[in-house]
Amino acid sequence: MIKQAIIPLAGLGTRLLPLTSVIPKELLPINGRPGLEYILDECIESGIKEIILIISKKKETIKKYFFRDLFYQNLIKKKPKNKELKENYKRIVKYKKMIKFVYQNSPLGTGDAILKCKKLIKSNYFLMLMPDDLIIKRNCSKQLIKLHKKYKSSVIASMKVDYNDISRWGIFNIKKINKKHFKITDVIEKPNRKEAPSNYAVIGRYILPKEIFKVLDRQKPGKNNEIHITDSIRTLIYNNNKFIGHLFDGKYLDCGSLKGYINSTIKISSLKI
Ligand code: G1P
Repeated sequence: MIKQAIIPLAGLGTRLLPLTSVIPKELLPINGRPGLEYILDECIESGIKEIILIISKKKETIKKYFFRDLFYQNLIKKKPKNKELKENYKRIVKYKKMIKFVYQNSPLGTGDAILKCKKLIKSNYFLMLMPDDLIIKRNCSKQLIKLHKKYKSSVIASMKVDYNDISRWGIFNIKKINKKHFKITDVIEKPNRKEAPSNYAVIGRYILPKEIFKVLDRQKPGKNNEIHITDSIRTLIYNNNKFIGHLFDGKYLDCGSLKGYINSTIKISSLKI
């Protein structure tokens, strides 16, 4: 059973400067709610019971966001008839009960961030979500958990990308199983066009095995001198661990760039909820 999720949030958010010099990008509102809440909701709806948020000292506002009880309680006392206020507080408390914080104070890469959670992961597999990747209309994590049960393996979300943008993504080498699923035979972090074995990209939803911590322990820095989770996944694949790729249903929104962030707000606000 997949009951724990990890969300790395210690990234600097340079693509969204100058806003992110004071506000963590994951708290920027998308249609009135922090982007992070959409990711938390996806976890909760897919049956996750504990969510580990990896933050840094510079991003403690994220922690504060969930721990403003006195502020809400005083406000509710002053405005007891305000239903919206009560609902907001209730929602924050619900999240607060499920989350744990872990610190990554130097931005050494996603692999390094995940390694900080080593002692907290209890089961053989866990879910990992990248907060820049928002997937709406369908719950991608739920789909991955279903596939994990079917294939009894690790699973990673994927979508086909334009060859001109290939170096922005982790890219899979694949062996097709059917229209939606494939066996991952290799993965390369941000390859150039010539190196890319396909245009099937890694999208930020992963079901990973606990063994990855052993690999991460010894993982050397890769592209841009960062410790990449992709490189450890590659080692696991080479050691015959089964990894399935899933072309997810639903709409992908990139919240990590200004253009993508604006587009996400437009797309989400036009949804009928
Ligand atoms: C990370 C991963 C990359 C993946 C991408 C998905 O890159 O390293 O393999 O394709 O997320 O969004 P980042 O966005 O941190 O550069």
